[in-house]
Amino acid sequence: MNTIVADTSESNQTQLDVESIRADFPLLDQKIHGHSLIYFDNAATTQKPNSVIQIEKDFYEKINANVHRGVHTLSDYATNAYENAREKVRDFINANSLREIVFLKGSTEAINLVASSFGQLRISKDDEIIISYLEHHANIIPWQLLCDRIGARLKVIPVFDNGELDLQAYESLINNRTKLIALTHVSNAIGTVNPVKEMINTAHCSGVPVLIDGSQAVPHEKIDVQELDCEFYVFSGHKLYGPTGIGILYAKESLLNEMPPYQGGGEMIRVVTFAQSTYNDLPYKFEAGTPNIAGAVGLGAAIDYITAIGFSRITRYEQQLLDYATKKLLSVEGLKIIGQAKNKAPVISFVLEDIHPHDIGTILDHHGIAVRAGHHCAMPLMERFGLSATVRVSFAFYNTFSEVDRLIEGLNEVRRMLG
Ligand code: ALA
Repeated sequence: MNTIVADTSESNQTQLDVESIRADFPLLDQKIHGHSLIYFDNAATTQKPNSVIQIEKDFYEKINANVHRGVHTLSDYATNAYENAREKVRDFINANSLREIVFLKGSTEAINLVASSFGQLRISKDDEIIISYLEHHANIIPWQLLCDRIGARLKVIPVFDNGELDLQAYESLINNRTKLIALTHVSNAIGTVNPVKEMINTAHCSGVPVLIDGSQAVPHEKIDVQELDCEFYVFSGHKLYGPTGIGILYAKESLLNEMPPYQGGGEMIRVVTFAQSTYNDLPYKFEAGTPNIAGAVGLGAAIDYITAIGFSRITRYEQQLLDYATKKLLSVEGLKIIGQAKNKAPVISFVLEDIHPHDIGTILDHHGIAVRAGHHCAMPLMERFGLSATVRVSFAFYNTFSEVDRLIEGLNEVRRMLG
């Protein structure tokens, strides 16, 4: 059962009842190597509340059928459940229309869709695409593939030592060959929150559309795509307490109308003949094949769960946790935090003396603490800091201050063993 009491007003600043929240996440209540699990790998994927787990089970037990296709009752139920989830997503990010919400596998598929379809529509030989040093591989490789295919060029916004982007350099990269800017909202590797609103405005002054990868932003702050005014915004459900295999492409309707289909198959067509076919209305034009119906329904339940808590409480609590953990980590001798931007999401990357991050991760795991160690799918950023890997802790609103204390004890133990 969920124990969240709905946050009915933005001014409701009551503290989070973290113990009640934790009771909604069954996975958290277990021992790893004899210790209570501490899950600090939320940037990789978040855990799921009972409501999400239960709705997936209910879907398969009671209403599973294909969508938009059957004349039978179950197909109606499944279609309604799927389309209700679309409305929840629309409302969650304040999109103007349901036609702007495309269900896909996740952010990676959404970026690949834009690279392929928008690329075909608007990007040609010698054109330029701007990304940043903070991107993870899913917002690098699709553009490299496109550039290789058509002879376009990739430009990269540099990053300062503190993990913030060089905004002057950004402005100077934009010219009349720039056809798209693709930027992460929040760095998965070091937590920097980019000033995307300002960067979108800059791009628009030169008439350049912008794609924002919001995978690491949506779990932590309220997103309003109309206020941001970006052309594209993508995110994955599993980083937002929803299931894996479901994600969102938001795009302005006018662009989606112009863009050619990405994949062909059922659902995305209107009339098919061997001579020529016509395509379905938005958003179905971009949803070829049977979609992840249960995944969409699960994502809808995750959005309900988060909305009931409210971002006013989530953001505030997670920032307190971030501040506390930053101070505590800096007190560990020999520990260096990589990326100390002024505006950060609850993600901290660090190195500890010359101890290999994988060894740190392994020892912490033996204390029941799950962290990520490696390049975090952001190899160019690691190289920029002269590193091959870091240890990353990433928080969710179910993490606690005492878990941070246990992390510090674990790191002191690492130093005793290997320092
Ligand atoms: N992008 C995911 C992470 O940061 C996989 O861990």
